[in-house]
Amino acid sequence: MQSEEAIGVFDSGVGGLSVLAHIRDCLPHERLFYVADSAFMPYGCKSNQLVEERCLSVAAFFAEKKCKAMVVACNTATAAAVHHLRAMYDIPVIGMEPALKPAVGFSRAGVVGILATSGTVGSEKFRRLKDRYALDATLIVQPCPGLVEQIEKGDLDSEMTRSMLGSFLQPLMLQGVDTLVLGCTHYPFVAPLIREIVGETIAIVDTGDAIAREVERQLQLNNLLRSPLRLTDDRSALVKFGTTGDIDQVEPLMSQLWGKDTSPKQLLF
Ligand code: DGL
Repeated sequence: MQSEEAIGVFDSGVGGLSVLAHIRDCLPHERLFYVADSAFMPYGCKSNQLVEERCLSVAAFFAEKKCKAMVVACNTATAAAVHHLRAMYDIPVIGMEPALKPAVGFSRAGVVGILATSGTVGSEKFRRLKDRYALDATLIVQPCPGLVEQIEKGDLDSEMTRSMLGSFLQPLMLQGVDTLVLGCTHYPFVAPLIREIVGETIAIVDTGDAIAREVERQLQLNNLLRSPLRLTDDRSALVKFGTTGDIDQVEPLMSQLWGKDTSPKQLLF
């Protein structure tokens, strides 16, 4: 039965775990397979063609595993390749983009800051998204080179990460931003530090929860929901992990961010 199959979720590294957690909370009875393409991390400073190739490789792996849906838990990869994946696969493919729509609706000052990778902000998809909301608010885009690498090192609140974030956030604060979009799935892991720097008056918008609800909607629409938990289900066994990177390096951080042992499988593609 197709609804018994897993949902494949991937990112360049551990960032997509911030989305996976929302999917697990929203759909606790679904099988999930998370792939961190850590051997090719970060995507944000790579060419469009390379990111596209990596997305196709991960998607081919999910297809081989007979996944019933795929989630591109990465803004950069979505911008580069989601249209190809949708054209190639006959299953729901859910991508993500910086949450400009809710942020513009939420901002009272009408000044919204967007933190994202260079790959996302340089993409055609993002240009179109920005154009759509540019009349409704002042949108200030801040690429964050180096931040994903800090997070992948596990430096979630080191002095280096703090000063890097300070240099990205100060200009936005000076321009009167009252709403901040986390346009990369890695950034929720430094949200507490961002909160410390910007204070309580700026709203921080993340897309993880909205994506989880979209996954649920797509599964419902396609009649692919797995039936609710059975007594035989071991909840932690429903979520599996893999990485193209070095297991010894990836595993500690993956397990730390997930909050329990992840024992990722070594993936070679
Ligand atoms: N987490 C990814 C995103 O949402 C990309 C990070 C990277 O590899 O640069 O954009």
